[in-house]
Amino acid sequence: MKRILITGGTGFIGSHTVSCLLEKGFDLCIVDSLINSSKKSLERVKEILKKKNIDINEKINFFKGDLRDKSFIDSLFKSSAKEGKPIDGVIHFAGLKAVAESVVDPIKYWDNNVIGSFNLIKSMNENNCKTIVFSSSATVYGNNSDQLISESSNINTINPYGSTKLVVENLLNDIQDKNSRKWKIAILRYFNPIGAHHSGLIGENPLEKPNNVFPLIINAAYEKDRLKVFGNDWPTHDGTCIRDYIHVMDLAEAHITAIDYLFKNNNQLINLNIGTGKGYSVLDLIKTFEKVNNVEVPFIFSNRRDGDSCKLVANNLKAKQILNWNPLRSLEDMCRDGWRWKQMNPKGYF
Ligand code: NAD
Ligand code: WQD
Repeated sequence: MKRILITGGTGFIGSHTVSCLLEKGFDLCIVDSLINSSKKSLERVKEILKKKNIDINEKINFFKGDLRDKSFIDSLFKSSAKEGKPIDGVIHFAGLKAVAESVVDPIKYWDNNVIGSFNLIKSMNENNCKTIVFSSSATVYGNNSDQLISESSNINTINPYGSTKLVVENLLNDIQDKNSRKWKIAILRYFNPIGAHHSGLIGENPLEKPNNVFPLIINAAYEKDRLKVFGNDWPTHDGTCIRDYIHVMDLAEAHITAIDYLFKNNNQLINLNIGTGKGYSVLDLIKTFEKVNNVEVPFIFSNRRDGDSCKLVANNLKAKQILNWNPLRSLEDMCRDGWRWKQMNPKGYF
């Protein structure tokens, strides 16, 4: 079975993907600086697999370290090769992701996300590992007004976080230029991942106060901390913004199909939107959460948030066709699973 290096593997999307990869039998080297996660997520992943009677002995190897330290990354490739199990491919999640923080401290974001990714890609090149799935984001489309956003929609980043994603996409495009074509690259542009593993054992565990709407809805329901809904005068069916929320397990499964696709096909670069193709408003999300969980989500309307878009929904046909992937879980599932995670782990992994 192939050995995959997962960067950012203890984080929200990383830990869910790790559980899916182990279930499929992959052998994993997991790297994380733990700047925004806990190693306990991997203990929980082991628990999930134990319950399914899946033996992961020696298939889950964790290394604490920062991608900005290139000698650390080099050592992972070298020691794997020495063991006779060279790294066949990389799924690169590691990065900082708070848009507002990136506006306040752009250098922190360029340092972490760009230098980290550059070191990783350079080390991969030197160690002849040329298969990578990269976590990009719908943020690269900026305030796009297309009804559905396709991969050929206009790219226009509007914050430093988005710029760091785009610059890594550009680097990947440059190394996979038309003359050399030596790499296998999948750039996945995620829309709005929410929810948690159905078991309630792993989920989103931000170490700082969250900014995204879904963890804030959970907190509002749990702590009766009122959610501020940013604007009720948008040109949508109920006046609140529309987004494409995708269950984190559907997103995790997209990574399995993407790396599998790269392993089985010729050298290439593909950009793929990973969303459900369905849009829901903030009020739709709140109401669904209240209904399926039988809880109240206290909220007030406040002003529009600077830089928000009215509607961002993926055209996901390319991912469906190329990867033979389909998002299966509903908004109800996302709300139920996210709430179960919170109830079972009110303080996250602590
Ligand atoms: P997360 O913060 O839970 O996970 C990221 C992980 O990377 C964390 O465990 C963190 O400790 C680690 N990390 C950060 N910088 C590192 C470094 N220099 N070296 C080693 N480890 C480092 O975030 P997530 O939601 O799981 O996001 C994963 C990826 O997906 C990120 O690249 C993010 O930008 C991207 N993304 C996330 C979303 C979203 O809404 N969650 C949407 C689009 C794209
Ligand atoms: C969703 C909706 C808000 C908070 C961000 C990043 C994007 C990607 C996903 C990483 C919007 C509304 C929010 C609140 C609210 N991340 N909202 N009250 O802005 O679509 O995307 O996360 O790549 O790059 O920009 O997600 O969860 O912040 O907002 O009413 O307190 O919820 O206005 O309509 P967004 P979000």
